[in-house]
Amino acid sequence: MNAAAQRRTLADDADADQPLIRMRKLRKVYRKKNEEFLAVSDVSMDIHAGDMVSLVGPSGCGKSTLLKILADLQGHDGGLLQVGGGEDFQPGRDVGMVFQQPVLLKWRTILDNVLLPADILGLPRKAAVARAHELLEMVGLAGFADSLPYELSGGMQQRAAIARALIHDPKLVLMDEPFGALDALTREKMNLEMLRIWEETGKTFIVVTHSIQEAVFLGSHCAVLTAGPARMADFFPIELPGPRRLHVKTSPAFGGYVRRIYDLLGVE
Ligand SMILES: Nc1ncnc2c1ncn2[C@@H]1O[C@H](COP(=O)(O)OP(=O)(O)O)[C@@H](O)[C@H]1O
Ligand SMILES: [Mg+2]
Repeated sequence: MNAAAQRRTLADDADADQPLIRMRKLRKVYRKKNEEFLAVSDVSMDIHAGDMVSLVGPSGCGKSTLLKILADLQGHDGGLLQVGGGEDFQPGRDVGMVFQQPVLLKWRTILDNVLLPADILGLPRKAAVARAHELLEMVGLAGFADSLPYELSGGMQQRAAIARALIHDPKLVLMDEPFGALDALTREKMNLEMLRIWEETGKTFIVVTHSIQEAVFLGSHCAVLTAGPARMADFFPIELPGPRRLHVKTSPAFGGYVRRIYDLLGVE
């Protein structure tokens, strides 16, 4: 772990720059009848408001488990988790979630799919509809508000799912391998979209990916987990020269980060 990350990881509670998310030695055990399965063993990191954290690690290491804990879809069994940076934080209201599949409701129009969290939270309808149109424009789906999901390609559906995750203006957006089902070219385009949305909204994003290249390209920071049970292998900022455009992937700095992650994961 580099010095900057270590300072952040070890920052004490009196730190004025309180992180949005603080995890310390987080632990999760799945229980089935008499069996216990340790899924997350020891995960510690600080995530600050406005960070884009890519979370990378081998399949089955506990990445989805961590996101579900952060979204309060399930509890944890040990360690410390503070979300909200000392301010009122309600996961149902303050978290947006994007899954590997878009999971749109097939009988609802794209607009009504994007509005779903607003409907569930009972947000004022008129403002929500206006915001949904803005978001559809932001994700390049302005002309598809009245379409049904089956009329859209996989990449377009996933963009609708991203708009849906933002409709209630959450503080934290969690994305679980959001581009896993897309072809390589669409995936690269979506990565660029993601960076633009991150810049435009200034929100805090955590993106799970098993693509090391994607982790480096997207992240302002990268958290690397070891094979399950999840432990922290490293957490570090990613600084790349110039704007994040696809050609940055050919830079030596980019290659250096990729190599660093390969080394951490023991890939030769
Ligand atoms: N609800 C559950 N009950 C029991 N075991 C689970 C459950 N969810 C996940 N697991 C196990 O926990 C481990 C981590 O799973 P997961 O967080 O989905 O990994 P990842 O997202 O990194 O692929 C896996 O071995 C998985 O089989
Ligand atoms: Mg997963």
